[in-house]
Amino acid sequence: MTRPAVLVARAVFPEVLARLRTHFEVDDNPDDVIWSPGELSQRLRGKAGAYVTGSERVDAALLDANPQLRAVCNMAVGYNNIDVDACTERGVLVTNTPDVLTETTADFGFALMMAAARRMAEGEHYLRAGRWTKWRYDMFTGSDVHGATLGILGMGRIGQGIARRGALGFGMRVIYHNRSRLDPAVEQPLGARWVDKDTLFREADHVVLVLPYSPAAHHAVGAREIALMKPTATLTNVARGGIVDDAALAQALREQRIAAAALDVFEGEPKVHPGLLEVPNVVLTPHIASATVATRRAMADLAADNLIAALTGGVPPTPVNPQVLGGR
Ligand code: DGY
Repeated sequence: MTRPAVLVARAVFPEVLARLRTHFEVDDNPDDVIWSPGELSQRLRGKAGAYVTGSERVDAALLDANPQLRAVCNMAVGYNNIDVDACTERGVLVTNTPDVLTETTADFGFALMMAAARRMAEGEHYLRAGRWTKWRYDMFTGSDVHGATLGILGMGRIGQGIARRGALGFGMRVIYHNRSRLDPAVEQPLGARWVDKDTLFREADHVVLVLPYSPAAHHAVGAREIALMKPTATLTNVARGGIVDDAALAQALREQRIAAAALDVFEGEPKVHPGLLEVPNVVLTPHIASATVATRRAMADLAADNLIAALTGGVPPTPVNPQVLGGR
C-alpha cells in the first residue's frame, strides 16, 4: 500500500521527523528555508498532509491549488495563520497544539511583565555598555509587582496561568476582560474580577495581553487604550503581533506616557517597528514564550500525533474544526 505523502514545512526535531517517516513519505525542509506562499503551495503538490508552524500561511488560494490536501497540522496553539473556514469548506482538517504550552508560556509572560516593571533589560544594557560607575538611590527604580493590580486581556488557559502566578505567588489583585465571564468557580480561587475593557486599562498596574488574534482583535490596543493607562503602568504582549498598534505603543513609550512595555510578538514579525528599537523602556524578545526544550518537543509531538491520526484513520487529539471528521 502506498503511504500518504506529507510536507513538513519547517525544521523540526529529528526524532519527530523520524517518527513521521515511519508513517509517511516525508518531504521536509532541513535548512529551514522560509518559502514564499507560491513555493509552499508548489511543495504541497501531491501531499495529503501539511505539518506547519505559525509562520506558514494556509489560505483559500493554497487550498485550491492543492485539492488533495486533507490535514493541516499546526505546531502552535494559535492558528491565525490558517483560514479555518476555507479549510472546513473544503473538508480539510486543521489541528493545533493547546495545553502543552500553557504553563511554559504563562511563566514567560509573567517573567516579561516583571522584567518591564523592574527595568531589567534597561539595567542590563546600561551595565554592558560600561556606564555603571556608582550606586544611586533612584537608579532604575521601577514599580512593584507584588501586591499590584494585574490586568489580563484574554482569560483563556494561558491568561488563567498568568493570573494564578500573580494571585497566588505575588499577592496581586487580578482583573480581567474576556468576551465572556469565567465560571465563578474559576474566578474565586484567584480573586479574579471581570471588568470592561476600558476599566482594565484604567485600573491595572500591569496589563498582560493573552487574547487570540482575529481580525476583530486587530489593534485592540492602540493609542486610545494606551491613553487610558496609568503613567506608571506596564504593557506586556505574549499574544500575537497585530493586537497592539506597535507604532502607537512606540510613541507612547518615547513620550513616557506609560512606564514600560514587554513584547514577545510584533506586527509583521520578524520585522520590528523601528520606533520600538529606539526606546529604552521596552523589553523585546523574538517570539519565544513557549520556547523550552520540553515544551517545544511536546508541541512537535502533538502536531505529529495529529497528522498521523488524521491520515491513518485515527482520532486526532486536538482538532480545531472537528466537524470535518464527521464528514469522512
Ligand atoms: C503558539 O503556539 O501559538 C506560539 O505563539 C508559538 O507559535
